[in-house]
Amino acid sequence: MNVGVMGCGNIAETYFRAQDYFNNINFIACSDINLEAAKKASIEHNVEALTIDEMLNSKNIDLILNLTIPQAHYEVSKKCLLSGKNVYSEKPMSVKFDQAKELVNLAKEKNLYIGNAPDTFLGGGGQLSREIIDKGEIGKILTGNFIFAFPGVQEFHPSPESWYQEGGGPVIDMGPYFFTTLVNLLGPAKNIRGRGVKFSDKREYKAGPNKGKLFDVEIPTSYMFNLEFVNETIIQGFISFDVQNHGRNHMELYGTHGSIIVPDPNMFGGPVSVSKELGSVWVNHSVEEKPLGKTNIENHSGRINEASKQSNYRGIGLSEMVDAIENKRQHRCNGNLALHVLDIIECAMISSIYKVEVDLRTNCEKPLPFQDYEIMKLLK
Ligand SMILES: NC(=O)c1ccc[n+]([C@@H]2O[C@H](COP(=O)([O-])OP(=O)(O)OC[C@H]3O[C@@H](n4cnc5c(N)ncnc54)[C@H](O)[C@@H]3O)[C@@H](O)[C@H]2O)c1
Repeated sequence: MNVGVMGCGNIAETYFRAQDYFNNINFIACSDINLEAAKKASIEHNVEALTIDEMLNSKNIDLILNLTIPQAHYEVSKKCLLSGKNVYSEKPMSVKFDQAKELVNLAKEKNLYIGNAPDTFLGGGGQLSREIIDKGEIGKILTGNFIFAFPGVQEFHPSPESWYQEGGGPVIDMGPYFFTTLVNLLGPAKNIRGRGVKFSDKREYKAGPNKGKLFDVEIPTSYMFNLEFVNETIIQGFISFDVQNHGRNHMELYGTHGSIIVPDPNMFGGPVSVSKELGSVWVNHSVEEKPLGKTNIENHSGRINEASKQSNYRGIGLSEMVDAIENKRQHRCNGNLALHVLDIIECAMISSIYKVEVDLRTNCEKPLPFQDYEIMKLLK
């Protein structure tokens, strides 16, 4: 299956690396609204640089990987589907629920596949957490919490403005990782109560040519919420661009027979920690032996989204979707899952504006566990 990459910015390099890991991704071309960016990527990754129209009309391309900015995801994915191409997009599926719903319906109508990041829940950490929970090792999960909090992208990004305007913000940026992980572990959600707060109207650029100058903040930058799942688990969440530092675990879930610390939903590794009774030690379960858990970044790669030591297998969702297309089955990072996650995100923001609990509009299937033998078939 021949894949074209649309959008050659920061994350593109990570995806090009996926063809070194997975055996069914064949990148043949790239494109960008900024032709210079496409040309640069084409030289670095040995693919053809095409204009947007050339990519959409190419007879050789079966699937387009949409790595454009969130505000362009809808427009780009829609054009891909209308051109008869399967599409896999970075998160979120769109910045508006109604647009994403239209995309899911359009794909169905055209008999094409639509897939979406994040795929991190397919990693060793996400899958081992799922296995422990599914086996009932900590009983029935009733409550839990998660946190993503840092000072914001202005710390390192030269053009951070879009994160602080309509269509941006912390929930739309980081919510996909946490909500997708929760749906993988607990099933679909049913309602949400949220509160949002804006710490200041202006922020300072900390990097790039505008360093030291100020830019406008138009939307809330910290959100707290309570999310109720169909299985009646209630989860408390906090996602913020206003915190200098914190010492909490990314995600903890509490069951009737114990507790679990789920590793970073933004990455693929572990360990997964479990404690079964009051005062007992936390037992760390390594995922280094799992196919998508092993640490594969040992030294700093130079990529801003990667710490020095971690597991990053972005692209497995795309590889799994290619396999699903070839074998005519449902893929795990599918449109219904991404639409449900976007529903949670949008309802969190609606809830915080109107200060009411909001019922979600969608449901979805819990993705099937991703077995090691299935992963091994996709690995090089
Ligand atoms: N950078 C990261 O660390 C990271 C990590 C995970 C996910 N993501 C997601 O990946 C996506 C891209 O992020 P990024 O950091 O690479 O952004 P970026 O701004 O660095 O790159 C986006 C690229 O898309 C191009 N583009 C914009 N609109 C377009 C259009 N209509 N048609 C064609 N090309 C267009 C831009 O010219 C740019 O080259 C986002 O959805 C983001 O949420 C980014």
